[in-house]
Parts: sequence; C-alpha cells; structure tokens
Amino acid sequence: MINGQLPVVWPIQKNCFKLSKAFGADSGIPNMKPRIGVLTSGGDCPGLNAVLRGVVLAAEKLGWEVVGFRDGFEGLLPPGDHVVLDRKSIDGIMALGGTIIGTTNRGHFAAKVGAGDRTVVPAHIITGAKKILDQLQVKALIIVGGDGSMVTAHQLQEAGIDCIGVPKTIDNDLEATAMTFGFDSAVGVVMDALDRLHTTATSHKRVIVVEVMRRHAGWIALHGGISGGADIILIPEIPFDFEKIATVVKMRGAAGYLGAVVVVAEGARPKHGEQVKRDVEGGEFRLGGIGEIVAREIAKRTGKETRCCVLGHLQRGGPPTTWDRILATRFGVKAVQLANEGHFGSMVSYQNYQVRHVPIADAVNRLKLVPPNGELVQTARDVAISFGD
Ligand code: F6P
Repeated sequence: MINGQLPVVWPIQKNCFKLSKAFGADSGIPNMKPRIGVLTSGGDCPGLNAVLRGVVLAAEKLGWEVVGFRDGFEGLLPPGDHVVLDRKSIDGIMALGGTIIGTTNRGHFAAKVGAGDRTVVPAHIITGAKKILDQLQVKALIIVGGDGSMVTAHQLQEAGIDCIGVPKTIDNDLEATAMTFGFDSAVGVVMDALDRLHTTATSHKRVIVVEVMRRHAGWIALHGGISGGADIILIPEIPFDFEKIATVVKMRGAAGYLGAVVVVAEGARPKHGEQVKRDVEGGEFRLGGIGEIVAREIAKRTGKETRCCVLGHLQRGGPPTTWDRILATRFGVKAVQLANEGHFGSMVSYQNYQVRHVPIADAVNRLKLVPPNGELVQTARDVAISFGD
C-alpha cells in the first residue's frame, strides 16, 4: 500500500501469463521473464530514482524484469546501453537526487527545440531503437521525462514502440498533470535560500535578488517567493517595470525595513523588453542573467547596496521531499500498472488527488502558465508581495 491510496493488488498471474505467452512465441525462451524497459530523459530532478524504484518493485511483483536504458533515449542507440534493474540495484535510491541510469536533454532523439518547435526523430534512429528493444525482448518502454521527452515518446509510439509516459520536471508547467514530482523539492531549495538570504540582507541593509529557474512559467518563483517571504516576485507571465520595483524598495526603506529580497525567474522580462539569453545550445536558448540586471537597476535607481544570487542547478539536485518521494513512487507504480493493462501511448497524470492517465498525444506541448489574475498571485499581492507591475 502506498500513501494509503494505491492498492497494489493486480492480476499478477493472468497478466504475467499474457506477456509470457508473447515472449514464448517470439523468442522460443518460455522461461524468460517478461521484460519492460525504463529510461529517464531531459533535465534531472529529485524523485527520478524514486520512480525507478517504484517501477522495479511493482514490475517484480508481476514477475517482470526491468531493463534500464542509460542516458535517456541515447541508451536505445545500437548496440544498446542498458542495465537490468533488480531489487538490489534500486536499494537505498529513494533518497538520492539525480538518476542512477543517467539522463540527457540533448541527443539523437530530441524531438522538440525550445518552447514548441517540433522536429522529427530520424527514421533510422527509431528503427535502430526498435531493433535493440526486440533483441533485448523488451516489450514496452516507460519514459520518465518532461514535455520534450513526451514528444519523442509520442513519435516512438506512432512508430510501433509501446510507450508509457511519466511526467517529470521541477518546473511543474505541464497542463496535463496537476503536479509533477521534483517541483516541491525545487521550491524547498528556493524557500531555504530565502530564509538564509533574509538575514544577511537585513544585517547589511542590502537588497538581494535571487534568480531561480524557469523560462516560461513562474511557478518556482511564485511558490518559492511566497513560502520564503519575498518582497518582490518577478515571473515571465507578468512583465515588470524597473521603476515600480525601485519604488517598492524605497518604500520598504521608508517604512523602516532594513533589507529586501527579490525573487526573479530566469525567464522574467521587463515590459517592452526581452528575456535575457545567455547562449544557444543544441538549437535552444539558455536563459540567465536577468538577476544581475535587476540587481544593477535597483542599485542605480535606489542607491541601495544590492547583490544577486543565482540558485541555478541547486534547484535540481539533492534528496526529494516527502511529497516528491510519494508522488514519484505512485507514478512509477502506476506506469507499470498501465503497461500491465495495455494502456500504451498514455502518460501518468495527477488529477484531483488521484494518479490517473491521459493520452500522451493530448499531453504534449501544453504548457501550464501562472494565471496573472489567479488566486495564488492575488494571495501574494494580499500579503504585500509586489510583482513589479
Ligand atoms: O526544465 C528544467 C530546467 O531546469 C529549466 O528550468 C532550465 O531552464 C533548464 O532546465 C536548464 O537546463 P540545463 O540543465 O541544460 O542547464
């Protein structure tokens, strides 16, 4: 029983027989265990290992064997970089950040560049992957990844590879699921950083600008900023005005507050301004640098000593929170359950406190942005947080 909600009582014998029968016919190896594949793809996030653990333990219960492909989809390239994941190999990994089978957000299977430009995974790459899966007798693939990885999963499914998607991202910006694991851990990092930065800001009578991740959606900045008591939160969905930010800082000073803490998402931009792009990698812009600019403008307009702190990949590392461990476990178990029931081409999704599934085709390319007039933004405004607008 997991989180008191998911009964793990599946028709083990029946389904095991179903898959075993298929193996027997294909391979002539009647005693070979049914095999399912799993890979982690895209940027890492806390909870990936908890998913792998859930997959392996749930599969084992069905009498299946799990083959992990290394470094995302790249493990499917001939000759196939894989490892059999058994109970021993997943021992103790629940609390580990990252992924024990590696990942990449680049490579031969990239099917999406930037916010929405899709590319097609070359036919010979898919054919090669199919051959590897056939050779290894892997009947279905669990793909743990973000939106880009789901676009690839969709293409593989259309090419005849049975896939189940498990959504992951620290950004929590997928419309098709109310929550992704990794988000709570990332927000915890921001909150912890803000707790620490408030005291140093106050002691030195400084303004500290904290740059956090996410290019299109401001969820991390918003949740991290509210939980960490930020004075100003700047998110991509609400373009800001430097003069307004400076006014808020000056007003705080006039009211007797010694310091101020500003949270800015890497994708935030001034009204009539552009996002700050550092460079291009793999056809995709890397953002970053807006924190420094905001800090400079505040110093220039207020005369206050100002510092910038970029949290960067700290937000993606380290042990998952309780919530993320449980959600990730539920997602891993559900993915195996979906494979067992033959729901291929679907993605695990968290809706109304339940783990359900949606077609991958309907889930891709639908970003969940912060509603600028929504309840959470209003709550923030009601506790005196400015959005610089
Ligand atoms: O999507 C996850 C994410 O951490 C984004 O918030 C960020 O823009 C990006 O990945 C950074 O990617 P990389 O690991 O390639 O620097």
